[in-house]
Amino acid sequence: MSAPQIDMQRIPRHIAIIMDGNGRWAVRRGLPRTAGHQEGVETVKRITEEAVRLGVKYLTLYTFSTENWKRPKDEVDALMKLLRRYLKDCIKRSTKNNMCVRVLGDITPLEEDLKQSILELEEISKNNTGLHFQVALNYGSRDEMLRAIRNVAKEAKEGDLDPEQITEELFASQLDTRGIPDPDLLIRTSG
Ligand code: IPE
Ligand code: MG
Repeated sequence: MSAPQIDMQRIPRHIAIIMDGNGRWAVRRGLPRTAGHQEGVETVKRITEEAVRLGVKYLTLYTFSTENWKRPKDEVDALMKLLRRYLKDCIKRSTKNNMCVRVLGDITPLEEDLKQSILELEEISKNNTGLHFQVALNYGSRDEMLRAIRNVAKEAKEGDLDPEQITEELFASQLDTRGIPDPDLLIRTSG
């Protein structure tokens, strides 16, 4: 049987995925929660390859949120370890798949080597023209808005900006998601 034809008209331009249910997936199988996170990383790799294959233009993945620091230290440590390995792998994949990778969220509280890997990944992939892959890390929508508001307020205080000049476009330009169209399809991977 030949492979089904892909109708490009029906491929969403921007797919956003909220990762959820990894822990429950593992526990249901009698495995530790971290096994679910590990499987989640493998799934992410499969999804990016598939998005590239299908010609999706934008893929955003919500991974670790600002809330997730409240989890047991062992779990946070395991997640950071997986992130460390994933970033190294993604540096290679970005070139192979012509992906432009950007991290959304506030990376300042991450460990130094993770921050370095993120900068390296963004730098090495910035001119790639295929899939635009956004990874939200230590991400929270309120945190994103707060950081944007602080930047705008700073400019206004320094006298470089008249508050009347604050438009929707100007505010959007301060968000982590600047330049990225809104998602057409949002998937949360748990029940
Ligand atoms: C998503 O799975 C991964 C992260 C948020 C890091 P969860 O860890 O939220 O798994 P459940 O929802 O507890 O099963
Ligand atoms: Mg969850």
